[in-house]
Amino acid sequence: MSSVDSQQRVLSGMRPTGKLHLGHYHGVLKNWVKLQHEFECFFFIADWHALTTQYDDPSGIEQSVWDMVIDWLAAGVNPGSSTMFIQSQVPEHAELHLLLSMITPLGWLERIPTYKDQQEKLREKDLATYGFLGYPLLQTADILMYRAGRVPVGADQVSHVEITREIARRFNHIYGREIGFEEQAESAIVKMGKKNAKLYRTLKKRYQEEGDLEALDTARALLKEQQNISLGDRERLYGYIEGGGKIILPEPQPLLTPESKMPGLDGQKMSKSYNNYIGLREAPDSVAQKIRTMQTDPQRVRRTDPGEPEKCPVWGLHKVYSDEATKEWVEVGCRSAGIGCLECKAPLIEAIVEEQRPLHERAKEYEGNPDLVHSILQEGREHARDAARDTLEDVRAAMGLSYR
Ligand code: TRP
Ligand code: SF4
Repeated sequence: MSSVDSQQRVLSGMRPTGKLHLGHYHGVLKNWVKLQHEFECFFFIADWHALTTQYDDPSGIEQSVWDMVIDWLAAGVNPGSSTMFIQSQVPEHAELHLLLSMITPLGWLERIPTYKDQQEKLREKDLATYGFLGYPLLQTADILMYRAGRVPVGADQVSHVEITREIARRFNHIYGREIGFEEQAESAIVKMGKKNAKLYRTLKKRYQEEGDLEALDTARALLKEQQNISLGDRERLYGYIEGGGKIILPEPQPLLTPESKMPGLDGQKMSKSYNNYIGLREAPDSVAQKIRTMQTDPQRVRRTDPGEPEKCPVWGLHKVYSDEATKEWVEVGCRSAGIGCLECKAPLIEAIVEEQRPLHERAKEYEGNPDLVHSILQEGREHARDAARDTLEDVRAAMGLSYR
């Protein structure tokens, strides 16, 4: 697969933490659903990643896996448009992790911010383990395995995509060198013809000297158009733009998932650990109950007291769910004590229940039919393994491991 096609590949993963909530839906899953129509998408359940912190009690992982896949499917991640699988069922990830560990300096792992942060945060656990230190490298293997050019992640995971880029660069630098690489690349340039050769050299220079990413893109597009150079030459010239040898593992870019604007029931960010969430597949009655018992502006004790929406978590949800007219009605009605809080909450309950209706519909098909869910993951696994084996074959060859 050429470096250009890798721009069409998206890979992302999620730890199995159990049922998802509306924060996940608005933040991550709606984005995945959109991406699956634009790119070739691989989405996987990172059960090995869960073990890096839950090794002492893995009992909940299996149930979490099923709950999470059904949430993905309910949200509209579509097995016809994307590949969904469980990490541990594609053991090739472990082999790539091992091989990459050979070239990974310890210092790179130790200085990733999440390493110290998480150890601090999860004080009660002993995270001074080999697996925990190496988990960003496992993530590196997850990404490079599919030669994914784009990786949707939240801001907290950008440093992991960054180390992935560094490892890919190091790998290509060490193993992408063929004898006579430079000479071969130079003669390939000549084969493109005078005009294209000159353009290629200018773009290469602009990228190497000024880090101009547009020049990189243009140079890649130029190579893609060339009819009169061989596939091997084309690959060589992709690598040559960036200065190194042949690109075996392309460097991915993070696709930053916009920070979820979804507030929880208490006005803080919606999160499982704050217990302020509405489940993605929460039953309508339970949604209504949770909204009705939400705290409002603490100054608004009696129905006749005017309130201030900015001090009320209910307003935060209106900002996500309500149209301009409704928001106007809330602001005016709240500040003048013209509406009561229950009244104010009613359109919100309706909007959330309405949003969830198609999710429940889709989930229904899977909830009572575990075989269907298994077969989706089975198919995903086969497809993922084919792609994974392709990459591993190249990696093994580059590292001198293709015995015959
Ligand atoms: N580490 C990610 C998290 O905790 C999950 C993950 C594992 C992932 N492998 C990945 C995300 C590869 C993107 C790409 O959320
Ligand atoms: Fe909050 Fe609405 Fe009550 Fe105002 S009227 S305090 S915005 S719930």
